[in-house]
Amino acid sequence: MTFNTLDTIMAFDVQKIRADFPILSRIVNGYPLVYFDNAATSQKPKIVIDSIVDYYSNYNANIHRGVHSLSQEATDAYEIARQKIQHHFNAEKSHEIIFTSGTTHGINMVASGFSKLLKVGDEIIVSAMEHHSNIVPWQMLCEKTGAVLKVIPMSEEGTLVISEYEELLSENTKLVFVNHVSNALGTINPIKAIIEKAHKKGAAVLIDGAQATSHLMIDFQELDVDFYVTSAHKMCGPTGVGILYGKEVWLNKLPPYQGGGEMIKTVTFEKTTYADLPHKFEAGTPNISGGIAFGVAIDYLNSVGLINIQEYENMLLKYATKKLLEIEGLKIYGTSSEKTTVISFNIKGIHPYDIGTIVDKLGVAVRTGHHCTQPIMDFYKISGTVRASFAFYNTKIEIDIFIEAVKKAKMMLS
Ligand code: ALA
Repeated sequence: MTFNTLDTIMAFDVQKIRADFPILSRIVNGYPLVYFDNAATSQKPKIVIDSIVDYYSNYNANIHRGVHSLSQEATDAYEIARQKIQHHFNAEKSHEIIFTSGTTHGINMVASGFSKLLKVGDEIIVSAMEHHSNIVPWQMLCEKTGAVLKVIPMSEEGTLVISEYEELLSENTKLVFVNHVSNALGTINPIKAIIEKAHKKGAAVLIDGAQATSHLMIDFQELDVDFYVTSAHKMCGPTGVGILYGKEVWLNKLPPYQGGGEMIKTVTFEKTTYADLPHKFEAGTPNISGGIAFGVAIDYLNSVGLINIQEYENMLLKYATKKLLEIEGLKIYGTSSEKTTVISFNIKGIHPYDIGTIVDKLGVAVRTGHHCTQPIMDFYKISGTVRASFAFYNTKIEIDIFIEAVKKAKMMLS
């Protein structure tokens, strides 16, 4: 693993960290920006932004194609980024890391691959707290194959009911799909136990880590996970790039997702043979600068230290939760003891959109609405929430500003 004991002894200097992010000194609507929409996308440190400029300024070329020097340089940088990602997540082999355009792409790659492996009566299990991108591809897969979708229910506090999951698992279960962290509630799901139980029945497990990888230390081999997907843009990297991790044995079993250049060994009009991993799943020219910048973002996160990030963010979460609950009529959705820095809430009698609009006028960015998780909103019988989500570059002072902004919104709207 890349994480080491240095992480634990490094001092956490949030002001020094903030200076790495140009956008954090912006003024929005006349107020210093308080960016609390990190679950939607994280901000980017200058070193990541610079790496994109550097690629286009100095060695822009297509990869895996040319013998010329620029192409070699670009190819090396892209493959080094893949190795950084491999080591960061402790994948056994670098070719188990497939570059994608993001989490949704990775999920669809697995869903599409499984359409060739499933038959009528097979079962897929998802959880009640999935993002739409983790529901729709499986519904489409079930329509195509005749497989059946089953749902692990959730409790009032926003945790999965594991005893019900055990009941759902059977010899017919072929795939279990759960998010590591809920984007709407912040709940950290017990994925190790979920994986172990699925494996006992011979089912494969795909974990959506989009909301987890910027907060938690994750070790693919230790988890024994079959597939894991995430996006760079939640991890201080650029949009339009992510990864699908798959165990080699599974990636070899799945057919390619797309046909095209660079994913073949030989092509004739009679028959095409496919390239080895990872290229079998990487047809076409990829997001080269994005992949390289993803590697830089991983280096950056490791220089801050995931252990430090977790500890600091937990402090922010506790502080903000306490302060918010002091506001009369405010209810938080998702109260698990295992949470990342997502707080979804409503204030009695006030529409979340109105709160979001007013706090924005005071420079505070939060997300409002159903957060692409309509089943969670249905469960709580609400149309949406206000969602504040923090990152390691946020501060207690920003939380105070946010609390004052929410109080002001409440006063104006009551
Ligand atoms: N899935 C992202 C969110 O929760 C976009 O905001």
